[in-house]
Amino acid sequence: MILVVAGTGTGVGKTAVTAAVAAAHRGRTAVLKPAQTGAVPGEAGDADEVAHLVPGTAVCELARYPDPLAPATAARRVGRAGVRAADAADAARALARENDLVLVEGAGGLLVRLHAAGDTLADVAAELGAPVLLVVRAGLGTLNDTALAAEAVAARGLACAGTVIGNLGVRPDLAVRCNLADLPEVSGLPLLGALPEGAPACRPRAFAEVAQAALAPPLGGRWRAPRRPGRVPVPEPVVR
Ligand SMILES: Nc1ncnc2c1ncn2[C@@H]1O[C@H](COP(=O)(O)OP(=O)(O)OP(=O)(O)O)[C@@H](O)[C@H]1O
Ligand SMILES: [Mg+2]
Repeated sequence: MILVVAGTGTGVGKTAVTAAVAAAHRGRTAVLKPAQTGAVPGEAGDADEVAHLVPGTAVCELARYPDPLAPATAARRVGRAGVRAADAADAARALARENDLVLVEGAGGLLVRLHAAGDTLADVAAELGAPVLLVVRAGLGTLNDTALAAEAVAARGLACAGTVIGNLGVRPDLAVRCNLADLPEVSGLPLLGALPEGAPACRPRAFAEVAQAALAPPLGGRWRAPRRPGRVPVPEPVVR
């Protein structure tokens, strides 16, 4: 199976969620990062971070551009065009021949350009006919961001597996608690998990436990989405 991990924006926790899904999966998992920006050769990119958190995960990065910008923009600054959606899809298919689960992590939000021709991660999902997993923020503003991204996915005829909150924060406020209950209704998508604050700082064994507790059964964990704000079971931050 191939799952395309997209975000409502940059820094929402796509890498953390990608690692959590890999950790909760029983079977061979690969992570594809079509374009890594903001990293120079030798520096750890998102795919390396997943390999660090989930040892044994196969990782593959197709292109790397040093400026911390959208891939097409960062590529242009070094005289390149970026990564074609068809090439990213080919790489994902190749990984899927050797692995039961391939996670394709985008860069920034869903419609950020990977290539000068306008290719986006949504085009990669379309090429593959693969479902999108939408990583979203926890706090105020996420209902709108998530509804917009869900509409963009649906408008392209793509399937969406659901949403996962990348970081619940240290002390979830009223907005976060209400969002946990409202996100499914507003987005029309199942909420499939919520990572506690501190998850990416865990060592691999602890991270695997956190992933199991923070992801819903369709993603290999045991987390249950709350139905009402008053019943929201907010996990404790992970103590480092
Ligand atoms: N649950 C969490 N608790 C604490 N920090 C987190 C959590 N999830 C993510 N972070 C931190 O937030 C930052 C952004 O997270 P992450 O790199 O996963 O986002 P991203 O969506 O993959 O970003 P990009 O668009 O750059 O790929 C990182 O420094 C990461 O360690
Ligand atoms: Mg990332």
